[in-house]
Amino acid sequence: MAFSDDFLQELAERNPIEEVVGEYVPLTKRSGQNLFGLCPFHNEKTPSFSVSPSKQIYHCFGCGKGGNVINFIMEIERLSFPEAVEFLARRAGMAIPEQAEDPNRARRARLYELNREAARFFYQQLEAEAGRPAVEYMQRRQITKRTATNFGLGYAPDSWDALCSAMKAMGFTERELLAASLAKQGRRGGIYDAFRNRLMFPVIDVRGNVVAFSGRIVGEGEPKYLNSADTPVFSKSHNLFGLNLAKKSKAGYIILVEGNVDVVSLHQAGFDSAVASLGTSLTNEQARLISNYAKRVVLCYDADAAGQKAAQRAIPILDRLGLEIRVVTVPGAKDPDEFIKSSGAEAFRALIEDSENGEEYRLARAAANYDLSTDAGKVGYLREAAEIISTLPDAVTREVYSLRAAEQCSVAPAAVRDAVVQSRRRRERSAKKQRERADTRPERQMQPQALGIRYENPASAAAEEGVISLLAAMPELFRAGDRPAAEKFSSPELRHIYECMLAQLDAGRAPGSAALSAELSPAESGLYAQIMQRPVFAANARQALADYISRLGRTSGEATGEAILAAASRKRQQLQ
Ligand code: CTP
Ligand code: MN
Repeated sequence: MAFSDDFLQELAERNPIEEVVGEYVPLTKRSGQNLFGLCPFHNEKTPSFSVSPSKQIYHCFGCGKGGNVINFIMEIERLSFPEAVEFLARRAGMAIPEQAEDPNRARRARLYELNREAARFFYQQLEAEAGRPAVEYMQRRQITKRTATNFGLGYAPDSWDALCSAMKAMGFTERELLAASLAKQGRRGGIYDAFRNRLMFPVIDVRGNVVAFSGRIVGEGEPKYLNSADTPVFSKSHNLFGLNLAKKSKAGYIILVEGNVDVVSLHQAGFDSAVASLGTSLTNEQARLISNYAKRVVLCYDADAAGQKAAQRAIPILDRLGLEIRVVTVPGAKDPDEFIKSSGAEAFRALIEDSENGEEYRLARAAANYDLSTDAGKVGYLREAAEIISTLPDAVTREVYSLRAAEQCSVAPAAVRDAVVQSRRRRERSAKKQRERADTRPERQMQPQALGIRYENPASAAAEEGVISLLAAMPELFRAGDRPAAEKFSSPELRHIYECMLAQLDAGRAPGSAALSAELSPAESGLYAQIMQRPVFAANARQALADYISRLGRTSGEATGEAILAAASRKRQQLQ
């Protein structure tokens, strides 16, 4: 272990989880001790992400992610354990002790190097005879040489081994080529180039590392784009094409488009803050990345139905981060690239200036679905409008749009206001119900599926979880010689958690100390945090432990149905 446990303990103390998480997720206090917010790790409308200041853990009832402050930073910043420790040390102004070199870091450095060399190789092809199709294609799309250089565009030749051979000659191994997602494993051993006959767009992160590639087919054909799979240096959902350039823009807003060609074309026309997500619909992480560089976003997706739907999906994700949203739909063209080619940059600038904000856009789309000259149309529209308005966090904004919708339909503003209030109440009620269900539904607690874990023996696992939660809350019960043997655990994950906690305890520390996160896998950390959410009652702890021990290893059939039901009803009572 590179870091001492004392150091990790101090690190955790100087980075209170509620503070650190609060920098990423707005948290609100509800009843009880926990803070709640919208989970940054999956899309949700109602908060199921909780932070416990007393236990110093976070846990999402929705996706199951959880752990301590170090796990949180690993997850949200996509860092390795040592990197997350370094990150938090810097945050708290602590000196980092001498540490062993992280083996993953060296491996990643090699992949960055390989990607950079591959980008250079693709770029050089444009000068070679082999690159002629790409050069001609770029001419047809009016991409200038200067733009190509600015983005580091290149060409993957129509060959099975051009890149692999060139990279191997430079000393990169087949394993590295596979790990970088630049090569694929052949059926009869050996590897071959993953990108062939494609215009290559290097994906460059905000630190300037080449992390991946998008390859657009030259001309027509399917699939139009190939993107690198996730690798140790790349996660599709955490990167945006063009952000390395857009982050330097002085525009004050980021333009979000669908296609890489749109990005390139916008930059060439002077809109140097255009970015695109990499073939995924916009993710929370991408939105957060954007919010690091601008407070305003102009959404300009393709004009087709798919593009408009994608824009609507992106709005609430951006909205949640407090970004100001504008929506541009290009008239008479399929996408911003085509629009600029046909109407020019100034026309596009005018579109941005006249663009609707996110609420206006959603309301306008709703209104378009109804005939507002009829009563039925008005009712339908107002119902939908109230639903949209009720999601706006700010009361004044809600009032403004309520008034506007009322005017549109010539009804009394009070009617719309009431509908908005109703809709907010409904949303709160269903959120509350969802939380309660997450708290009490026994089968959900029995199988932590969201974490990719399946208990072979749910009955025993329930008891194992019980042992772990007692160990965290009342370690003194476990100091004596009568602690249950880890071998009795049926779940390998729970057993590993239990063993790590015992090791902490035997080393004289609290069994839930920060050092645990170095030992547990992300799924195990999530499971640990989930277990730590449960209340433990000191009064009957000894009896409970004896109970759990007697149930370790026992399979269902033997009283388990009853045991699970009893446990569930106990839990329900505790919560009331
Ligand atoms: N797409 C993708 N991978 C990327 C970029 C886009 O899979 N790296 C997908 C998007 O999800 C979307 C479509 O491709 O469905 C967008 O294509 P389009 O906007 O037509 O891309 P352009 O680069 O603008 O292509 P074109 O040359 O046709 O304008
Ligand atoms: Mn396009």
